[in-house]
Amino acid sequence: MAIQTGVITISDRASKGLYDDLGGPALKEAATGYGWSVIAEKLVPDEKSEIQRGIQELINKGCALILTTGGTGVALRDVTPEAVREIAVRELPGFGEIMRIESMKITKNAILSRNLAAVVQRSLVICLPGKPSGAVECLSFVVGAIPHCVEVLSEVPTSC
Ligand code: MTE
Repeated sequence: MAIQTGVITISDRASKGLYDDLGGPALKEAATGYGWSVIAEKLVPDEKSEIQRGIQELINKGCALILTTGGTGVALRDVTPEAVREIAVRELPGFGEIMRIESMKITKNAILSRNLAAVVQRSLVICLPGKPSGAVECLSFVVGAIPHCVEVLSEVPTSC
């Protein structure tokens, strides 16, 4: 079955309507290209509580995979990693490591990104940079591990 996917754009300016959200649609197109089913999209400002509420809402809608774009940089308003870590069961450091290593071959500014992946309840949340092309590139570097990760998280635990 296609992975039920949600996309969240995290941006003060896009959520105020000061510019169009290009990151969300770019990620939706990429996710659809990977054969996943994008069932929900959200646009929220760079506020921890709004980010956490947005993730919870998409989990409640049945998203096994949530892709976020924005708020991973060094600006003081960039709080996506902090928001996700607060509600995560565990972090999956390999995702951020690979995204930064591969992105450094494209831009030296990739060292500034705090991309990450974490498990929230039973959903995989992957936090990507705000630049649309950067978000799509970073997703492409880790896409190979996503189906297996989502499958493992969906398994009903058995007691032994
Ligand atoms: N990674 C890739 N692959 N391509 C990019 O263009 N942009 C970088 C970085 N990672 C970029 C990238 C830049 S300029 C910044 S500031 C950080 O991601 C954080 O972005 P964010 O604050 O918009 O989330």
